Amino acid sequence: MIQEYFGFTSEPFTKDILPEHLFRTPRFEELLARLEYGVKKRYFCLVTGDIGAGKSTAIRYLAKNLDENRYKLLYLTDSDLKPRDFYRELLFQLGCTPEHQRIDAKRQFMRLILDLFENQKLTPVVVVDEAHLLSNSMLHEIRFLTNFKMDSLSPMALILVGQPELRGTLAMQIFQAITQRIQVRYHLSGLTLEETGAYISHHLEVVKAKSQIFSPDAVKEIYAYSKGIPRVINNLCTACLLAARMQSSFVVDREAVLRVIEDFRKF
Ligand SMILES: Nc1ncnc2c1ncn2[C@@H]1O[C@H](COP(=O)(O)OP(=O)(O)OP(=O)(O)O)[C@@H](O)[C@H]1O
Ligand SMILES: [Mg+2]
Repeated sequence: MIQEYFGFTSEPFTKDILPEHLFRTPRFEELLARLEYGVKKRYFCLVTGDIGAGKSTAIRYLAKNLDENRYKLLYLTDSDLKPRDFYRELLFQLGCTPEHQRIDAKRQFMRLILDLFENQKLTPVVVVDEAHLLSNSMLHEIRFLTNFKMDSLSPMALILVGQPELRGTLAMQIFQAITQRIQVRYHLSGLTLEETGAYISHHLEVVKAKSQIFSPDAVKEIYAYSKGIPRVINNLCTACLLAARMQSSFVVDREAVLRVIEDFRKF
């Protein structure tokens, strides 16, 4: 509906934005650079950031740009993951049928990882997204992965991704063994006011909008409400465009944004 009305080439502010169309801030670049370095060195990396800040999006971008001839990405995002399912899922992603017993599946996984690394010259990259939801028993299993080959170098890179409370959990005494092994860490914060304006313009450019639509004051209100968090900006902008369409308008000013925010606050 928005698309036809505004004459866009596709729907703007959607979550399935193509990796090549992502908005790249210096912090996004910094996160990617650190992750690329961590992956290359087979380090243990920790990425945190507020809800909707763009963590999974950055991982999606990293994954798309990994050289398939050098890396094998294993991506887990099941918040309810149990140690048993953990190895099963990883083995499935490696194209194997997991052994029935957990301990056997774990050994099977270790063998496969070493084979990938030593014989096939492929570096496994294990990403555990939504890691703030992991149970303590799962975190202990992760500890094992960080200590895979004991004293020698790790055969894989491991990236934990989660909301800010993950840092608090890992800071607890019982997880010191994990924390001490983290070699790359990055916290992805929200966009600045200027970046929020540029982010909105960028999304509109991607769909070939003919005008800016959002006034500078409207952008200020969007920033104040969203704190520069991309998912919130997306939701707000979409609601504003819908409201403009309802009122047969082609611009979104400060008052229009405030009306939408008021509606948001009711629910
Ligand atoms: N750099 C970016 N360029 C364009 N859109 C982005 C960018 N970063 C995030 N987004 C948009 O914001 C939405 C939220 O991002 P994402 O799902 O990556 O957040 P998250 O930090 O993983 O959130 P959660 O904590 O809920 O898992 C995405 O659907 C995407 O559309
Ligand atoms: Mg996410």
